[in-house]
Amino acid sequence: MSFNPLSTARLPARRALVLALTGSVLLAGVAIAADAPTAAGTAHPEQWPQRRSPIAPDPKLEKRIDALMAKMRVEEKVGQVVQGDIASITPDDLKTYRLGSILAGGSSDPGGQYNAPGKAWLQLADDFYAASMETSGGKYNAIPVIFGVDAVHGHNNVVGATLFPHNIGLGATHDPALMGEIAAATAAEMRATGIDWTFAPTLAVPQDDRWGRTYEGYSENPAVVRSYAGPLIQGLQGKPGSKDFLKGAHVVATAKHFLADGGTHEGRDQGDAQIDEATLRDVHGAGYPPALKAGVQAVMVSFSSWNGVKMSGNASLLDAVLKKRMGFDGFVVSDWNGHASVPGGSRENCVPSFVAGVDMIMAPDTWKGCYEHILAAENSHTLPAGRLDEAVRRILRVKFRAGMFEAGKPSTRGVAGQFELLGSPEHRAIARRAVRESLVLLKNDRNVLPLDPRKTLLIAGDGADDMMMQSGGWTLSWQGTGLTPEDFPGAQTIGAALREQVGKAGGKAELSADGKYTAKPDAAVVVFGETPYAEFQGDLKVLAYRPGDDRDLKLLKKLKAEGIPVVAVFLSGRPLWMNREINASDAFVAAWLPGSEGGGVADVLLRDATGKVQHDFRGTLSYSWPRTVVQSPLNVGQPGYDPQFAYGYGVSYAKPAKVGALSEDAGMDLASLGSETFFSRGTPATGWTVRVQSKVGKPRSLSQASGQKDAPDVAIAPIDYKAQEDSWRIEWKQDGELAFIAPRPLDLVRETNGNVMLLITMRVDVPPKQKGAELFMECGPGCSATLPIDASMASAPSDAWGKVGIPLKCFASRNGQMGNVSAPLGWRMPAGTVLSVHEVGFGTEAQHVLDCQAK
Ligand code: BGC
Ligand code: BGC
Repeated sequence: MSFNPLSTARLPARRALVLALTGSVLLAGVAIAADAPTAAGTAHPEQWPQRRSPIAPDPKLEKRIDALMAKMRVEEKVGQVVQGDIASITPDDLKTYRLGSILAGGSSDPGGQYNAPGKAWLQLADDFYAASMETSGGKYNAIPVIFGVDAVHGHNNVVGATLFPHNIGLGATHDPALMGEIAAATAAEMRATGIDWTFAPTLAVPQDDRWGRTYEGYSENPAVVRSYAGPLIQGLQGKPGSKDFLKGAHVVATAKHFLADGGTHEGRDQGDAQIDEATLRDVHGAGYPPALKAGVQAVMVSFSSWNGVKMSGNASLLDAVLKKRMGFDGFVVSDWNGHASVPGGSRENCVPSFVAGVDMIMAPDTWKGCYEHILAAENSHTLPAGRLDEAVRRILRVKFRAGMFEAGKPSTRGVAGQFELLGSPEHRAIARRAVRESLVLLKNDRNVLPLDPRKTLLIAGDGADDMMMQSGGWTLSWQGTGLTPEDFPGAQTIGAALREQVGKAGGKAELSADGKYTAKPDAAVVVFGETPYAEFQGDLKVLAYRPGDDRDLKLLKKLKAEGIPVVAVFLSGRPLWMNREINASDAFVAAWLPGSEGGGVADVLLRDATGKVQHDFRGTLSYSWPRTVVQSPLNVGQPGYDPQFAYGYGVSYAKPAKVGALSEDAGMDLASLGSETFFSRGTPATGWTVRVQSKVGKPRSLSQASGQKDAPDVAIAPIDYKAQEDSWRIEWKQDGELAFIAPRPLDLVRETNGNVMLLITMRVDVPPKQKGAELFMECGPGCSATLPIDASMASAPSDAWGKVGIPLKCFASRNGQMGNVSAPLGWRMPAGTVLSVHEVGFGTEAQHVLDCQAK
């Protein structure tokens, strides 16, 4: 079959034309609505590849399942199909509820300690295992619990693990064999800490780089994903039929997210893929047949929809296509509370998703409600006959195949407890090679690279000595933020690696983030780029890099103006419009998110001490690089394809090419872009206003503090915190309200589900002296949610700045309609209260988190 990522040939002519007009976001939206595809989210199984499981049916094993199931109470069966998160379930709960699985989500760790060591993970695995084997005096059967984590670029939840480049970098290596090595190393590190199962690999084929998860995909080209899937699965799981399949140093793998997670409209995470069935199958489904052929044992359902139908509720795809047509005989797991978004479902009610064919419901903090709903449905015979048994059988089959019933507790299995595997020299060597192979040289016009390590080098930029920026999301924390250098033992930043090699070769290197130097260098390496993000928090409106903040560009230009040859090393989870930065650099390297082995970058940038090239560039783009910020979607094979750097591009020392000056027309006015922060530098963000209301006077709407100092109701004065007039001092002279009004209603459903908070950097100058302090949120006319905060205001540290987090869930549980938030934050305060506010926005890291359950 020929490669045709968008299958535009099969689209109605009108839509194909619109797709050709890349960047015309509005137009595309209109045209797609007018041209709604006919399939309406129901698949035709006969059009999909027919397959059989690579693992022959094993009558002996199925008999063991029969025998066990014959002894299981209905409650135990229901337990098997529900998965809870370790932040919300204890081993004691498991003894009562008999859940078949637990996970540790991106923000969940043993003891709630984000940097818990391998030993703590192993102990926790043992504790949950022991609970699952405890039979309450024979009342229940001993069925080992299966423990899953997101080991998506190495065993990234555990301190000291090897951090491999994120998948976008691995795509640029075009090296399927290397994927097998990385997967096997990751599995071994997982097993050392007692974990059975990874939610990887991501087989997404991202088609719109505005998607915050672009970096989790290997390529926009389905052929790359297709060629990687098999080696990845076998590296993780071992070979079906071999003695150590799913055992020893292997784990259970998950192909995710089924299906078209990377095909959503405008690259919106958890959005809707508005595509025909052939595109669904041939582009987004490309990795699944090889993954199934390699014996993958779990498939995770996407949060997203296909033509308006939620994947988590799509029986035609989960049951008819995946299980029946394609012969998948492992189990289907849903994504984090994905069941809540299926029509008829809710956070508590996972029945509709279960009926559609999800075998294990990922109900992190809703497992109890989910369990009770399935149990009630089974007992009242409203579940389709046999559905529960089918799901249980699939889960038990995987547990038996993995030898879990014979294996004993996690700490006694295979390589468990060999913590020296975490970040072992062998694994780091694989990662370092992967880094070298992943680098894509976009420009080297004056042959500044390779650099001579015997000379004087300046190493500058925010990213030069920053493990967080190098590692990206899904690193120790969900968003990959809030970490310290001590959290990365054994890792090396790019700056440290350059300095080490230059030092050894007899040259001089100066590391200075802001680019100030003591001795004029012979060349400068500037490392900069995106700060970490995960999932929807990384979604962009356009492919602009840090709009409104040109500090990196200024640094590049400044160095160049001083006559210093400049090498830019760009860290990012996707291609972004970088023409100005590329013009300001002599050489430009796309380094993606390389992970813990910064040495891989130095190996390619620097010659050796004798002047020889150590390693040439080998990486080529697995994603097309845009010409403007509005050029998305942009994919090879698409009509009118006109990228700045095409799919497959990459120059090298052996094959140089000249780039010359690039157009600096961004394609739109960058100043008009909004951000996650809606109050900062002493003003509401563009389009936002502040509404003040009290018993005296009329409500008024402000976009700045000037003239509000002496207001008789709520007085606002600009004050200095980190910079001049960068904060507001708000004094309630009367009982009254102050609220932040959004330019248009915000949809915060995903943020709420993902435990995102409102983050307020503030100080309590004078706490309220009477009762009645409240926070509120508004959700359109007549809709609001109110949170009393008398208790927390009374205990808040006064006179100290701090970052306070208000979980969005606090509003959702008080009838807030999170899909239509018109004002995400307001204070209602009694007269006399004084607060100073520096910044308000959304995020996941706070110093003090409001406990809204507390009375
Ligand atoms: C993500 C999955 C992940 C799961 C568990 C979800 O939000 O979409 O990729 O495996 O959480 O952390
Ligand atoms: C979890 C992640 C999950 C996300 C859902 C977070 O709170 O820690 O694992 O993927 O929510 O979007």
